[in-house]
Amino acid sequence: MSFSQIGVVGLGIMGAGIVEVFARAGHQVVGVAESEAAVDAGRSNLAKSLSRAVAKGKLTQDQADEITSRVSFGEDFDLLANCDLVIEAAPEILSLKTEIFSKLDAAVKPTGILATNTSSLSVTDIANATSRPAQVIGMHFFNPAPVQKFVEVISTAHSDAQVVSSIVELGKSLGKHLAQITDQPGFIVNKLLLRYLNHAVQILDSGQATKEQMDAAMRELSNYPMGPCELLDLIGIDTCVEILKTIHADTQLEIDRPADGMVNLVSAGNKGRKSGSGFYDYAEKLDVPTDANVDIKNQVHNDLLIAYLGDCIAMEATGYATKADIDFGMKLGCGLPEGPFEVIERIGLDAVRSAQAELAQRTGIAAYQPLPL
Ligand code: CAA
Repeated sequence: MSFSQIGVVGLGIMGAGIVEVFARAGHQVVGVAESEAAVDAGRSNLAKSLSRAVAKGKLTQDQADEITSRVSFGEDFDLLANCDLVIEAAPEILSLKTEIFSKLDAAVKPTGILATNTSSLSVTDIANATSRPAQVIGMHFFNPAPVQKFVEVISTAHSDAQVVSSIVELGKSLGKHLAQITDQPGFIVNKLLLRYLNHAVQILDSGQATKEQMDAAMRELSNYPMGPCELLDLIGIDTCVEILKTIHADTQLEIDRPADGMVNLVSAGNKGRKSGSGFYDYAEKLDVPTDANVDIKNQVHNDLLIAYLGDCIAMEATGYATKADIDFGMKLGCGLPEGPFEVIERIGLDAVRSAQAELAQRTGIAAYQPLPL
């Protein structure tokens, strides 16, 4: 299968980032969004990202112009007719995505592959909205798409094996590391990441720590590129709430119910960076969060890290993903300096299990217990 022309539907942060990834790799790209304003926003996101690369000396102006010239934008799905692959990057609402896929099914040539960048929704449900479910797949990028080197390729029971392998090869040609997985809510990374982010907001809601203490704890004590509240703002708190709803519907665990602190911010229109404010206000340039209270930082770092490592152990034990896929996902998808199984190797599995038991006992939350031996 050859992929000369790529379509992207939805030109928010992720859609515009995906347009950039393909255009940089030499593909002709058509970006489609639902309104003139959304198309303009997508065009401007691409221009900003390329200007940043030019200003940093990573691209010449000629190269940036050449990349831009490979991209066309519009509002009409018919512009996607000749695409070999169309990737949908619309908001995390199943009814919206199934509507888009049924329109794509009608507009795109019969041999075209349709991919969703959904963060957690059922790829199977999305595939079922088309007459070509064998050619529908999940292709999940991470934010910022041009920076993060990980992509999850999600197949369903309908997927054609050749479609899956061609998408994996295409992903590799973009310089990404791919994990090939089946259709489960949250896939690998979001299942782990969103529970960690939700845990942080639950701690915040309980008044045990401030957002600055939590963000400083994870930056300083684990060298994460961002703390949890900063990252929620980057991803979009509304998106995170939607992902958590899907995960919660699946697990029915209280720890996966979207924390009030997030739900309230979204209700007030504070969705994170994209709306100008979320946990933080982006009207002016922000300093890196700091806090001098070492005890609180140690406590929240311990609790967030131990719960997350326990989730990684549990995921690997189900056979859904390998240790290597989980480590690559967290490092290359989220920019973490070490994969969780590298951390477990360093501090020792017995120490992690004892800390899990202590966390479960102290909080009274059974889900934090270590797996039975
Ligand atoms: N678009 C393109 N490039 C960008 C960018 C953007 N929006 N933001 C940053 N960059 C580039 C910069 O140009 C810079 O590139 P070079 O190294 O080539 O110069 C590089 O990224 C680092 O940027 P900065 O120096 O400006 O900033 P930083 O060092 O603070 O890094 C960051 C910013 C890359 C966002 C980093 O903080 C990070 O990795 N954070 C974690 C992000 C994360 O976890 N993402 C996954 C979220 S989960 C998800 O996306 C899945 C989902 O479904 C919800």
